[in-house]
Formats: sequence, structure tokens, C-alpha cells
Amino acid sequence: MFVRGRQILLGIGGGISAYKSCELVRRLQDNGFVVSVVPTQSSLNFVGASTWAALSGRKVYTDLWSDVEDVPHIALAQNCSAIVIAPTTADLLSRLAQGRADDLLTNIVLASTKPKILVPAMHPEMWSNPATISNVNILRQRGFLVIEPDHGRMTGDDVGVGRYPEVARIIDEINQHLLRNADLLGKKILITAGGTRENIDPVRFIGNRSSGKQGFALAYAAAKRGAQVHLIAANTQLPVIDGITTTFVETADEMDTVVKAEFPFSDALIMSAAVSDFKVAQSSDHKLHKQEIQPIDIVLNPDIVAGVGMMKQKGQIVVGFAAETSIELQKLQSAGRDKLLAKGLDLIYVNDVSDGKVFGSDQTTGMLIAKSGTVIDIPIISKDTLSEILLDQLLVELG
Ligand code: C5P
Repeated sequence: MFVRGRQILLGIGGGISAYKSCELVRRLQDNGFVVSVVPTQSSLNFVGASTWAALSGRKVYTDLWSDVEDVPHIALAQNCSAIVIAPTTADLLSRLAQGRADDLLTNIVLASTKPKILVPAMHPEMWSNPATISNVNILRQRGFLVIEPDHGRMTGDDVGVGRYPEVARIIDEINQHLLRNADLLGKKILITAGGTRENIDPVRFIGNRSSGKQGFALAYAAAKRGAQVHLIAANTQLPVIDGITTTFVETADEMDTVVKAEFPFSDALIMSAAVSDFKVAQSSDHKLHKQEIQPIDIVLNPDIVAGVGMMKQKGQIVVGFAAETSIELQKLQSAGRDKLLAKGLDLIYVNDVSDGKVFGSDQTTGMLIAKSGTVIDIPIISKDTLSEILLDQLLVELG
């Protein structure tokens, strides 16, 4: 199963110091990273695939020609937060500098837009060879972080620069490098996801078709950009995201209580949950029998986001979602703008959810409207991509 969280894809090059990466896997996990290991064929002479599988607790891919139907090099390239290669041998530096893709690891690197961190380890003569120096320069110019090796004793009797660095320094450098991409660092963001359920009796409820995918995608994207995220999930079937505080609720009243308690400590609320507008006036404490069935009295739920819109202080941002059905594009924009003003929002994402187009899907299409007047048309894109666009806009509103 794909676990969402801070994921490191750890490539292992064929050098004797490969054994030191066993410790690196453990310490990365202590730092909250989920680690997937991709050893090169030659590195398997030093440490076997079963060791990596046991340490990482995850499937280990070693070549391009297994599990081809999963297109693993693309999935692995896209699903990680960063690629770290430790040790990086002189040969790997050379192949990466040439942009080659002649094994699984180099394919992944070439297919990935994520930050790439290399930890070279080799004999001092190889490290100071002009060919290696030139390869390192090329890679640095292309944005790779190449960590300097340590000075000290090599496997034999030689002494010089080329040793595998202390694991603590590698982790420090990884953390700092990743934080540089963290434009939401220091921000606390409250996100609601899923759909509320209102009890009719202990067995039945009034619910809706929201899957929670959009809220979870937003939570993941915000956490990846450094935000401290609190996710409030209503009746979702999605796996929890590593490193994100998640509170589970069922009804609109429960969600209202948690949102109101947490909002004063948050920089932003993104209300992507589908909240039931109404609940049963008096739900039954036992399963209703056929002969008891009568028309059900319903009463309005609190409008959570409108309540927060009224209590927000200067500097706090509130984002709403609006799901409309069978509405013309022109009217979508005015409906969104009316809702934005009525509920005191700074930003609203309005979409047409008719014909099962959005609920439960991995894709979405709609319109992002800001209080400041900006309107962004969103073509059919993934919910992950919408999350990035929405967070970019949220940052603009946060100033
Ligand atoms: O009015 P409408 O339900 O279309 O508004 C949608 C927005 O309002 C969403 O952000 C939703 O989470 C929020 N909402 C709410 N409380 C309700 C109903 C909707 O916070 N009772």
C-alpha cells in the first residue's frame, strides 16, 4: 500500500560502504521518513535485497524488468519527496552526469522532478580524479545536492577524502535541503475532509458521496510544503497520512466543535469537507421498525465555515469549497462569488459535481475564486495538482 508521508527513495550504489546505509535507513525512519530502497545490481554484492526489505519494511525493487505492469520506475519517481543515493559510486556519478538510464535507479532519477541528494563515497584518488570532479560539477549545476565525503581511513590502509559521512550529518543535510522547498514552514493549517453523517437511528444516517480524497490530497501537499497540518476527517476510507495529526469525526456538530476549538491556533482553515446542511431533529436511540416509520423532522446544522468566517482575526485565512450540480459555467462563478461573500471566505473552490464527475474521483475541475478578485479556471486535473494551485493561492492571500 502506498503510504503518504515524507518519503525518501534511497538508492544504494555498489560500494563497500553500502552497509553503512543500513544505519541510515533506521535513522531516517527515526526522523519520520518512510524509506523505499532501490539497490543497484552491483550493490547487492555487498548488502542483499532481503536486508533492505527487512529494514525498510517495504518492497525492494532491484531491476527494470520485474513488476513491469506497475511501471515501477515512474511510480517510484513520482511518489517520493526526495531521492537520496548513498553511497554514490564514481560510476554512478558518471552515469547520472551523462543522463543515462541503464538500470532501475538511473531510470528513476531521470524520471523524477523531486530533490536529489547524492552521498559519494569512494577512494580518495577516485574522488579527486578530474573526471569525477567534472561529473560532480555538472550534477551540482543541474540542482543535485552533492554532500562532501568525510576525511579519514578507507577500507584498506589509505587515508584521505572519500569516506561515507557520519549518518547524522547526512540527515542534517537532507532535512535542510528539503526545508528550502518548504514555503509553508511555520504555518498551521486546519483541513476538513470527507462527508458528515447525521444519525436517523443507530443503523441509518443521512450522508453524502464525498470520499475525502481532496482533503487528504490538500493535507499531504501542505505537509510536504512544511505546514503543520491538522486534518479533521469525517467518514473516509483513506489510509492516515504519516506525520499528520488526524481527528476523526462523524457528524457536523462534532466537526464544528473540533474546528472551532482549533481555528484560533491556526493560520488557515480549508473547509473541503461536505457538511450535511441538516440533521434529524430527534434521532432514535434504537433501530426504527417499519411500523414506527413516520415523516422525519429535520433541522439545520450550524454552517461551520460561516461561523469561522465571522470569528477570524486579521491574518487568518478561510477557504471554502462549493459543490454545485447542473449549473452553467457562467453561473458557477457568480454562485461561487456569492458564497464567498456570504460566508466571509478569502478563497473558494467551486465545482460542478453532477454525474459523479468529482466525488470519489482522483480528478477535479472547477474554478478558484479569491476575495481579491482573482479567478482561476481549473481544467480537468488531479486533486494533487489542484492542492498545489490552491496552496499557492492561499500563500498569496496569507501575504
Ligand atoms: O453552502 P454550501 O454547502 O454550498 O457551502 C459549502 C462550503 O460550506 C464548504 O466549504 C462546506 O465545507 C461548508 N459548510 C459548512 N457547514 C455546513 C455546510 C457547508 O461549513 N453546514
